[in-house]
Amino acid sequence: MVNLELLPIPLPSSADPVKLGDFGREVKNIDPGNFTPEEFEALEKALYQYGILLFRDVNLTPEQQYHLVKAFDPKAESYGHGSKRKVGGNKKSPFVQIRSIPAVPQVQLIGHGTVLDHEGIIEAKLQHPSHRNFHRYPLSDEDEATGATRFYHWHMDAALYGFKPPKVTALYGVNVPQGAPQTVRYDDGTGDELPVPLGTTAFTCGKTMFDTLPDELKSVAVRGKVRYAPHPFQWMNPARATSTGLTLEAEGLELPFDELPPWEESKVQVLPMLWKNVVTGELHLEVAGTAATEVFIDPLPGGTEREGALYPDGTHLTDLKEVRQLLYKLQRPGIAPSLIYPHDWKEKDLVVFHNRGVNHSVVGAFAEDQVRVFHQSNLAALDFPAGPDAEDIKRWA
Ligand SMILES: [Fe+2]
Repeated sequence: MVNLELLPIPLPSSADPVKLGDFGREVKNIDPGNFTPEEFEALEKALYQYGILLFRDVNLTPEQQYHLVKAFDPKAESYGHGSKRKVGGNKKSPFVQIRSIPAVPQVQLIGHGTVLDHEGIIEAKLQHPSHRNFHRYPLSDEDEATGATRFYHWHMDAALYGFKPPKVTALYGVNVPQGAPQTVRYDDGTGDELPVPLGTTAFTCGKTMFDTLPDELKSVAVRGKVRYAPHPFQWMNPARATSTGLTLEAEGLELPFDELPPWEESKVQVLPMLWKNVVTGELHLEVAGTAATEVFIDPLPGGTEREGALYPDGTHLTDLKEVRQLLYKLQRPGIAPSLIYPHDWKEKDLVVFHNRGVNHSVVGAFAEDQVRVFHQSNLAALDFPAGPDAEDIKRWA
């Protein structure tokens, strides 16, 4: 018998309780480190239905975390970015190097500060990703001293080259320093701000992101595909992000493709903008704005009303500035302050999220002496996410 209890997650006052009412659930009565097949079936369904599952006060070994993630995709083997991820590959990279836990390389140690003798790692110097070395126009020391911060980088966990996007990510807080709340500044001319707990992970639901769009942009999204760069994180490494962390400034700083490590066309990914939820059938806007290089929009299907439609005859955008502007237009409404769930991390929290249905960002900055230890796990999938089907296109185009 499955005793699974699902409670609403604690939404902050900034969140729209109607739009986020079905986003996230706290799970009670199931041990995520030790569950029966029946319990897992209930968990899996809940994950796809609610996007985020929160377990509180959980003791979870790296092995148990790996088993939990693997249960969602039993044939998946390697970490989402391959077994040895070296993003960026040089000291100047804004993308922090992630370390594998030696006994369970599919689980990564992430966080902030110096960590000693942890799960077989003798010493790790961790760095919480800072927008200061990724955004084009970062906040100043003075701004940060007042508690202002930014979304670092909105994304789904995916290599977007070679390895297929993981279905699920599990984040486990081992050591969670507490401190004063901070305020995310969007600094995009809207005046938008979002109060957040220190070191929050910000989540937004890809379904809500799609639902929020006006009809003409829904039509673009349902007809759209995105081509991603080969070795996207190395490609974008010299470029810098906009102040919302959604995309990059188009300044021509990306590495030319012929200066990247060797790459193959067959590993380059072209993915639909909307990913279909395998349980609910709903469409989730899942786009990695920083890694995109081209956009393909199919023409409107025959018989569709053309008036007011964007790209009624379809298009193929190859100019990075245009690509980014379009994707930004699609994604920006979905990161409005009222649509974000900023998780307030406590020690022994486990957050499992549907990586093909939500978008997330690291947020905030820690002081040098604040030590944060997290375990993160996701597995490169064996299949690609499904896009809209014929019915969806008929309905939304
Ligand atoms: Fe992530």
